[in-house]
Amino acid sequence: MQKITKICCIGAGYVGGPTMSVIANKCPHIQVTVVDINQDRIDQWNTEDLDQLPIYEPGLKEIVAENRGKNLFFSTEVDRAIDEAQMIFISVNTPTKTYGKGKGQAADLKFVELCARNIAKVSKTDKIVVEKSTLPVRTAQAIQNILDNTGDGVHFEILSNPEFLAEGTAIDDLINADRVLIGGNETPSGQAAKDALSAIYENWLPKERILQTNIWSSELSKLVANAFLAQRVSSINSISALCEKTDANIQEISRAIGFDSRIGPKFLNASVGFGGSCFQKDILNLVYIARSFGLQEVADYWEQVIIMNDYQKSRFAEHIISTLYNTISGKKIILYGWAFKKDTNDTRESAAIHVANALMEEHAEVIVYDPKVTESRIYQDLDYLETRSPEENRRLLTVAKNPMEITTDAHAIAILTEWDEFKDYHWEKIYAQMLKPAFVFDGRRLLETDTMKAIGFNYYKIGQS
Ligand code: NAD
Ligand code: UDX
Repeated sequence: MQKITKICCIGAGYVGGPTMSVIANKCPHIQVTVVDINQDRIDQWNTEDLDQLPIYEPGLKEIVAENRGKNLFFSTEVDRAIDEAQMIFISVNTPTKTYGKGKGQAADLKFVELCARNIAKVSKTDKIVVEKSTLPVRTAQAIQNILDNTGDGVHFEILSNPEFLAEGTAIDDLINADRVLIGGNETPSGQAAKDALSAIYENWLPKERILQTNIWSSELSKLVANAFLAQRVSSINSISALCEKTDANIQEISRAIGFDSRIGPKFLNASVGFGGSCFQKDILNLVYIARSFGLQEVADYWEQVIIMNDYQKSRFAEHIISTLYNTISGKKIILYGWAFKKDTNDTRESAAIHVANALMEEHAEVIVYDPKVTESRIYQDLDYLETRSPEENRRLLTVAKNPMEITTDAHAIAILTEWDEFKDYHWEKIYAQMLKPAFVFDGRRLLETDTMKAIGFNYYKIGQS
């Protein structure tokens, strides 16, 4: 079996950066080079001030500090890194297509294809090419075709090694992974490549947790895993709506059903709706694939997970509007949290974007505070929707740095991300500063109902009447 000493990862994003940092940390004998075409991003990865890394992830900066410049490198020299590596991870973005066939559902594979063409052009020695990006089932075949038809007689062995980390817990998820999945061709060279990749993970994970499958099962498993996880959130969120009509309590229901070992307690937190770069994109992709094979019922079944999530986000916004006497024009509404979950600065598909947009449609005066998300990111998210002009977005919504000051004369606060610091705020002081009646809409079930009501708030917690 080939012993890997040099690897390259194309794409220095939320997956490429943390994943390669952990590999470098756990495998001192391997030189890891992470490359990206985005010069700014690479500069940020190379920044002296580790608080300025492009990604906020607990534990990441410590690992980067330990390994960067030793066996971990960030560079824009893509061709050179490909040329030198024995194993190349493709970890570029695969967003939902915004144009042409499959628009709004299929995964856009143009970045992956560019990588494959580049690998074919540059490579002079045999390579193992690893799909780390989440890809539609059978993408490996397209990559193989490109490599075999444009490469220089070099042998390319393709593996699928989807990533299961969740943002906010990425480093822990990588170090203590439930499992690693490696799919490859069922040929001697395919098996050797799978074993070579497995050997990397075996530096810190027990072999039993490294699963080998055929390449198509591996590609499809990633979409299915995300679909199942998102389905749980949509399932519990659907019941949260029913709880609000019936005096049942969603937390008690989560606990009651989660005690059944067949169901299990995790991923049963009702919320304002799931966000993140993966769930929606991957389910839409699954729906598209099912439909393209003529499996209409299968497609409809999974699409409902997205429909329910959209419903949850708009239900939350509509509840704010109706509770504030059906008119929020000119009313000051504070949003605590913009990230799609705590402990990340990622905002892709965050429920906060859609809630803010709905409130702005009603001409509310929206003020956002998030401990890790930048002002420019927030405006980019809103401008991307193209609901109104960029100037209007800046007029209707402002971004604050001080979470307490902004509550003066506010009509309402909506909690949209479950940042721990929100629990420790001086809520009595906030209440004193707000207009009365003072409303808190808790989309993350973060605060204690009794405490908030005792202070005097009109307190709404999702999933509880
Ligand atoms: P990202 O947008 O954060 O990073 C992708 C990077 O690839 C960008 O920096 C971009 O500049 C770079 N890139 C694009 N084309 C390139 C090219 N031709 N050459 C060099 N660099 C190029 O994306 P991400 O969140 O890291 O996701 C990457 C993949 O991993 C996606 O397929 C995603 O579905 C999957 N995934 C993401 C997560 C997650 O939590 N974010 C988890 C599991 C899997
Ligand atoms: C997800 C998958 O968990 C991960 O395995 C995959 O690799 C990438 O996609 P991520 O999107 O980073 O990870 O975070 P995750 O913890 O799954 O949360 C996704 C969204 O669901 C967040 O908005 C979160 O707040 C929400 N969520 C999660 C709930 O609303 N309730 C829950 O019980 C769990």
